[in-house]
Amino acid sequence: MLNHANDKEGPSFVIGNIPKGRNMWDRDIEIDNIWKTLENDNVLLTACRRFGKTSIMNKMKENPQDDFVCFMFNVQSMESPHDFTAALFEEICDDGKFVSFIKKAKNITQEFLNRLEKLKISVVDIELRENKSPDWRDMTNNFVNVLSEYNGKILFLADELPEFILNIAKHHSKDMANDFLNWFRTVRQSSKLSNIRWLVGGSIGIEHAIKRVDAKVHIINDFTIVVLKPFSIKVGRDYITALLKKEGNFITIPATIIDKIMTTIGAPVPYFIQILTKESLNAMNDAGKTTLTDEIIEEAYHKYVLGPSSKTYFQHYYDRLSEYYDPNDENIVKRILAETARKGIISRTELFKLYKMIEVRHPSETRSNDIMSDIQNDFYVEYDHKTDSYNFLTNILKDWWLRYHNIIEE
Ligand SMILES: Nc1ncnc2c1ncn2[C@@H]1O[C@H](COP(=O)(O)OP(=O)(O)O)[C@@H](O)[C@H]1O
Ligand SMILES: [Mg+2]
Repeated sequence: MLNHANDKEGPSFVIGNIPKGRNMWDRDIEIDNIWKTLENDNVLLTACRRFGKTSIMNKMKENPQDDFVCFMFNVQSMESPHDFTAALFEEICDDGKFVSFIKKAKNITQEFLNRLEKLKISVVDIELRENKSPDWRDMTNNFVNVLSEYNGKILFLADELPEFILNIAKHHSKDMANDFLNWFRTVRQSSKLSNIRWLVGGSIGIEHAIKRVDAKVHIINDFTIVVLKPFSIKVGRDYITALLKKEGNFITIPATIIDKIMTTIGAPVPYFIQILTKESLNAMNDAGKTTLTDEIIEEAYHKYVLGPSSKTYFQHYYDRLSEYYDPNDENIVKRILAETARKGIISRTELFKLYKMIEVRHPSETRSNDIMSDIQNDFYVEYDHKTDSYNFLTNILKDWWLRYHNIIEE
């Protein structure tokens, strides 16, 4: 049935790391669209964790378009605007060519030059982090003013910005988070800085982060929001075929096997495709077989993909509920998610009934809709307007929820 070959050209498994070269599958249309949007606008690339945002940002950074020079930094674990400034310094000063340009810039202040002269970025870094430096706004403004003299376009890729906003509020204050958001908006809107573009990534809804720090949504309304979708069915099928050829050494693969993998994972997210394909090949080898069957794929899914060793893959989806919601809403959201997982598809009317039963405060349809919007924006569920109902965004998360979080205290 499955013939074996030696196709060394195809993609290998890179589960969790950034896929590069031939391991980075497709996303060409998405990347072209983002570059086109960046001609005039800044972009917020948003999607569920693990859908492939960082992989796309990395591919763009490594293959910049036209005269763009790209600097990428992950702001997820940063705690203050000082950290942000330090990371900007660090990234840019890593680029030798750019440092020589900066030193010659007209707008450079003596203080800034002194810092660059030291050129020990770690020193700047430490000073900034320890808050010893002048106001981070002065430093950063001087820095971006210098960048405006650059005779070309600059793209900053800042990954996980919504988490950074929440971190500032958590470790410092909501006011500081607002200061940063205001400063960031001013930089994006400055006509002097029209050669700079921002591509910001986010795995949690930015609306959520903005609301949590009591900012108004207009603060980010200049971004073009690009929602990253799973692969199309065709790209998903081609990717599974290529993985099986490369990693399983098969020449031909029956369409029924591809069908089985596709229906098992539901939305063709590259990460889940890799996990199930890899576990299926492992299960095939463990069973001493040389061909894949529906039963092997089924077993790999239930025993390994959803098994205890995979518990951590998805645990953050559960854990973050207690971080983002007060205990009352947390309880409501958990009950709603468990019910949605059990039913598969659940109508808005049914969910409203459930919500009214659980809500101990004054229940209202608006509140219920707000809660559903929140979990939709945070990528747990999707809404189907044709049937006015909700279901989990991915089969895997739904099945995982059923396995680990189906027991709810009534
Ligand atoms: N285009 C792709 N080709 C192959 N694997 C991918 C691709 N995009 C994502 N992946 C897989 O998914 C994992 C998560 O991708 P990542 O870009 O880190 O997602 P996100 O930033 O949205 O959380 C990667 O480690 C990789 O295994
Ligand atoms: Mg990422």
